[in-house]
Amino acid sequence: MSELSLPPGPRGLKFKTAMKMGLGIYSFLDDCYDTYGDTFSLLLPGMAPFVWLADPVKVKAFFNLKPDQVDQSKLPIPIDLGDRQTGFLNGKEHQDSRKIVIPPLIAGRLHARAGVMHEIVESHLNNWKVGDQFDTPRKVGDIALDVACYTLFGLREGEKKDRYAELMLGWIGAATNNTMFALGTLYGPFKFRNKLHSAYLKQTASGNFGDGKKGFFPWKQSIDLKVQLADMMREDIRRIRRENDENATDMFSAMSRATYTDGTLLDEERVIAEAMGVLVGGHETSAASSAWHMLWMVKHPKVVAKCREEVLTSIKKEGRFDPLAICELPYCNAALNESMRLTPSAVGTLRYLTQDTAFGDVTIPAGTNVLAGAYLIHRRKDIWGEDAEEFEPERWLDGRFKPGPFEYFPFGGGRRACVGSNQAKQQLRIMWANLYLRVEFDSPYANNDDWPSQMQVSGQTEPQDGVPVTVVKIHPADVGCKQAGIAEPA
Ligand code: HEM
Repeated sequence: MSELSLPPGPRGLKFKTAMKMGLGIYSFLDDCYDTYGDTFSLLLPGMAPFVWLADPVKVKAFFNLKPDQVDQSKLPIPIDLGDRQTGFLNGKEHQDSRKIVIPPLIAGRLHARAGVMHEIVESHLNNWKVGDQFDTPRKVGDIALDVACYTLFGLREGEKKDRYAELMLGWIGAATNNTMFALGTLYGPFKFRNKLHSAYLKQTASGNFGDGKKGFFPWKQSIDLKVQLADMMREDIRRIRRENDENATDMFSAMSRATYTDGTLLDEERVIAEAMGVLVGGHETSAASSAWHMLWMVKHPKVVAKCREEVLTSIKKEGRFDPLAICELPYCNAALNESMRLTPSAVGTLRYLTQDTAFGDVTIPAGTNVLAGAYLIHRRKDIWGEDAEEFEPERWLDGRFKPGPFEYFPFGGGRRACVGSNQAKQQLRIMWANLYLRVEFDSPYANNDDWPSQMQVSGQTEPQDGVPVTVVKIHPADVGCKQAGIAEPA
């Protein structure tokens, strides 16, 4: 650590700061902002210091950091994704890696998947009944998981899809729960991640698949499930390479056939690591974003009614529920933008500094974790206006203010911006259009000012215990066409 001092921030026992954060990160960050201003530091047990930047000028410098100024392999994330996964790579290796992950996510590929995404959502809703009670994100997470099986592996149904879904969900739960995060934090996230990875490699080499159940050691289940999941993936990598079917456009096929710049195929562990990254990066993020959106929707029935009207108008115009047209609906998109503004699932985006670095008028020492604070910037009154704390989709439509990339960034930015943002937006837009159209919910959070505390899952901020809802009305799949006066969907 260099001699430079850190910006001000709460001091005292580190575990007390961690506990306060754990009790509700939103109000904790608000308090820090009110007390210390838009640049403050936090000291947490087992980790390098954190500096939060909640000033667009500093965030611009953050997103423009040069590759040699950061070392993402040091990120304090205690999840074993594999030792060479995009999110943890640096420099040229990181940029080359993005070139492997991005092609299956380009617009053409995404558009081709829109119809199936809609069918997946429809088939879930067809099984919902009046009186069903569940919490988001979990039930909505099931839809996200099926979309992930399809996008990642091209699988929609059957035994293999069910097994993948079971292992993926089991592994995410076992690897990213609070106990694992707490242990990882105490032990040191970097060391913990590496320990888990060595144990996974050792168990794989000895052919020990484990029983996949919880054990005396809290990490046992996550290692067992990763060994089993990776084994399935390894078999698929070999099959894909044998068959070499260029028409297979799912992400896993594309990554299995991808090569390094010298033309050699990626090693199998590397393909597995990227797939695990897409899984964690894509699943819980979409589920958490949906949970927050659900909360806003049960509190704002007039917004739901407007979204529904817009979806119906689109159905009337297109003669059917056209998923690509649905993705372009201004008011529906504004409503989603607004919930990702006020309650972004990633409260901040992280970089680990390798050298003393200036951010505007502040120089932050090497060896610090720096965060671009989306949650705080997204609520600044001097940027968004006096009504910054209000949920108001209209602000995105009436030309009042068009935020720049350093004022609104739920998907991060710069060289490391989320590679799945378009896929995520498409998926959320299609799913929510179906929900506006077909389902009416009640919730203990409706018609009052109650607000859940927050918890961290896979590094995402979610409403504590989810948003419980009850289905009070469910319409059949053709309700849109019927109400739009279209007898037979085109
Ligand atoms: C609502 C859903 C999502 C949210 C809110 C979200 C958010 C983010 C954020 C904030 C980052 C960090 C960006 C940065 O450091 O500047 C990120 C990175 C990443 N995301 Fe997403 N994400 C979502 C969905 C997805 C999906 C669906 C995928 C894959 C299909 C995905 C794959 C990734 C990957 C691979 C990275 C690492 C990129 C890199 O390090 O170069 N994400 N995401």
